[in-house]
Amino acid sequence: MNFSELSKLAVMIVGAVVMALIFVGVTGAATGFIFKAETPEKPGYIIEVADASGASPAKEEEKEADFATLLASADIEKGEKVAKKCVACHSFEAGGGNKTGPNLHGVVDRAVATIGDFKYSEAMTSFGEGKNWTAEQLDVYLAKPKDLVPGTNMAFAGLKKVSDRANLIGYISSLSK
Ligand code: HEC
Repeated sequence: MNFSELSKLAVMIVGAVVMALIFVGVTGAATGFIFKAETPEKPGYIIEVADASGASPAKEEEKEADFATLLASADIEKGEKVAKKCVACHSFEAGGGNKTGPNLHGVVDRAVATIGDFKYSEAMTSFGEGKNWTAEQLDVYLAKPKDLVPGTNMAFAGLKKVSDRANLIGYISSLSK
C-alpha cells in the first residue's frame, strides 16, 4: 500500500465515520421525533390517572364536608336511627331517667357529668371540670369515647362516620327545641 492508497483509505474511514455520525444523528433525531410524538400522549395518561383518581378528590370533598356544615343540615330522621345505638344505655326523653348511662335529654351544651343522680366515672368527672358538651365536643367524644376521655365507663367504640355524628347530634338538639 503506497501513501496515496493509504490516504484514500483514511478518507474512506473518515467518510464512513462521518456517515455513521450522520446516521446516528438522523436516527437520534428520528427517535427524538418518536419521543416527541409520545410526549403529548403522556399528559393523556396523566389525565386518565387523574380521572381514575377522580374518586379521591370526591373523597376529599366528603372529608372537607366538615362537622359544622353537616350539623347545619343534619338529617334528624337519620340521627334518630343512629340514636338506636345509644338507647340500650341512654334515654333521650325529658325526665327519661338514667340507665347504664345518664339521661341525654338536652345534653348538647349541658355541663359535662352533671346529672346529679348518676354515678360518673372518675375519668369523666375530672375530664368534665369546667367543660360543656358543645356539639363539637360531642363530635369528638362520640367518634371514639375512649380517646377523648380515657377511662370512661361508656363502653361504646364510637361512631366512625362524621355524618352519623352530625345527624345524631342534630337529632339530640332537636328534642329539646
Ligand atoms: C354500653 C352502654 C353505652 C352506650 C351504648 C352508649 N353510652 Fe354514652 N355513656 C355510657 C356511660 C356508662 C356513661 C358515663 C361515662 C362515665 O362516667 O365515664 C356515658 C356517658 C355519655 C355522655 C356524657 C354525659 C354527661 O352527662 O356528661 C354522653 C354525651 C354520651 N354518653 C352519649 C352517648 C351517645 C350519643 C351514644 C350513642 C351513640 C352513647 N352514649 C352510647 C354508656 C353508654
